Amino acid sequence: MIRDLIAKNRSYRRFHEEFVLKHDTLRELVDLARLSASAANMQPLRYILSCEAERNALIFANIAWAMYLKDWHGPREGERPSAYIVILEDTQIAHPLRCDHGIASQSILLGATEKGLGGCIIGSINKPKLREALKIPERYEILLVLALGKPKEKVVIEPLQPHGDIKYWRDSGGTHHVPKRALDDIIFQV
Ligand SMILES: Cc1cc2nc3c(=O)[nH]c(=O)nc-3n(C[C@H](O)[C@H](O)[C@H](O)COP(=O)(O)O)c2cc1C
Repeated sequence: MIRDLIAKNRSYRRFHEEFVLKHDTLRELVDLARLSASAANMQPLRYILSCEAERNALIFANIAWAMYLKDWHGPREGERPSAYIVILEDTQIAHPLRCDHGIASQSILLGATEKGLGGCIIGSINKPKLREALKIPERYEILLVLALGKPKEKVVIEPLQPHGDIKYWRDSGGTHHVPKRALDDIIFQV
């Protein structure tokens, strides 16, 4: 079950934008992050929820998509995410071990996958502009944006040879291919 869920939880970048992703669904997903591990149990993360067209547009304008797809500059109108979760850190309760946001993201995305949804973790963010657009106080640092929606693309995993290219690609039929290293190539033998 968990293997299937993780395998299905790919990064999706094209969505059925007309699909309505409710505020309550976003709350349910953040609740999964709330229950996840946190360094020293400090729980410094805060979440901005967005499922309204106006706020979605502000977020979309300040994120970048798929750096390896040079001829594609992000989802066109009609294929954009229905919702976003912006992950912030309260710098007044932050812990130096900063990986809570990765764990939170995975919890949220696995929850989304279980609901038949999908998304993408976005680290390429114009943080000053997004801060200004959403009026985020200086105390909170923007860490990640999660784009969410009903996926409109097929994503498949490909085997990656030890010295192969890690770049994902999209074929002429629009399927997105993601190379993954082999298990024996990542288990370190001592
Ligand atoms: C921390 C982090 C930041 C990422 N930032 C971006 C990003 O800015 N834009 C984007 O399109 N994808 C981003 N991704 C998605 C990765 O490109 C994706 O995870 C990778 O290509 C592997 O695909 P998969 O998630 O389907 O396994 C990010 C992923 C992680 C974990």
